[in-house]
Amino acid sequence: QRSKLLVTRTLPRLSQARLDKGFDGVDIVQWKEDRAIPRQEFLKLAKGADGILCLLTDKIDAELLDAAGPQLKVVSTMSVGYDHVTVSELEARKIALGITPGVLTEATADTTVLLVLSAARRLREGVDAVIQGKWGTWSPTWLLGSQLTDKTVGIVGLGRIGVAVAKRLKAFGVQKFVYHGTRPKKDAEKEVGGEFEFVDMDRLLKESDVICVCCALTDKTKNMFNYEAFSKMKDTVVFVNTARGGLVEQDGLIRALREGKLGSVGLDVTVPEPLPTDSELLSFPNCIVLPHIGSGTLETRTAMSEIAIENVLSGIKGERLPHPHDE
Ligand code: GLV
Ligand code: GLV
Repeated sequence: QRSKLLVTRTLPRLSQARLDKGFDGVDIVQWKEDRAIPRQEFLKLAKGADGILCLLTDKIDAELLDAAGPQLKVVSTMSVGYDHVTVSELEARKIALGITPGVLTEATADTTVLLVLSAARRLREGVDAVIQGKWGTWSPTWLLGSQLTDKTVGIVGLGRIGVAVAKRLKAFGVQKFVYHGTRPKKDAEKEVGGEFEFVDMDRLLKESDVICVCCALTDKTKNMFNYEAFSKMKDTVVFVNTARGGLVEQDGLIRALREGKLGSVGLDVTVPEPLPTDSELLSFPNCIVLPHIGSGTLETRTAMSEIAIENVLSGIKGERLPHPHDE
């Protein structure tokens, strides 16, 4: 009996070529437009699927699983984050969930450092000044940013990506890392080397010169960065979020920026995505926003789509996934 695989977008070239060649015994249905599959279309195409290869833009909830039907064995998301998936609904139906951990660590850490330096050195203002003819002369006092040498960096979530960020920032002369998460991580501290301290959120907010958000979005972490949290930060802080927009209570962030409470901000993730161009968030020269491209290198995106394919094929065959979400 043949299986049905639904793929919700065109994949990077190498993986797409594999899909185009096909897999024995598998009928592939694919949404090939380069925009998120509309919900109604998703519900319709999911019907009868044994496996679904989806993206972080596709909500996987009870309605979708019901629309798919009881034969569905696996959901494989081409992402490391899975806050778009209602895990309890999958568990209740014994549907496996695959993710793409590990392969996007380096690219995402690179993007985090890119935003830290861009925010700290006022990249947006500098580029805008050149383009708009506002570059008068070399000036001892113009467009001065801050540097990482001897600073304290706060990392929220010292997981794979947090560690990779710390390793990179250490090379810029950071003096000390403070971090917060579910528990102290001695192995991670050792892997990076240098001075580390596991602290409560309050201390992290107050003591950090730079704050990097590298944790997963869950019910517990949702909106953890609200106006009150921003108010506790140094008024020179460099705040960078490359994890999920939902970790930040965005109106609180906007208010803090409006009141001049933050040094500079770098975001790769927002609510919603895409961020409407009339969002007040885009009006602050000291806030730079990227369009969720943390893992956006050809190498990494190819590795992610390859893992997503392996996960979904294993799941369809009823085998253990190479990269399940809970490992
Ligand atoms: C990207 O945000 C991912 O979760 O892979
Ligand atoms: C800067 O360009 C310098 O020469 O100091």
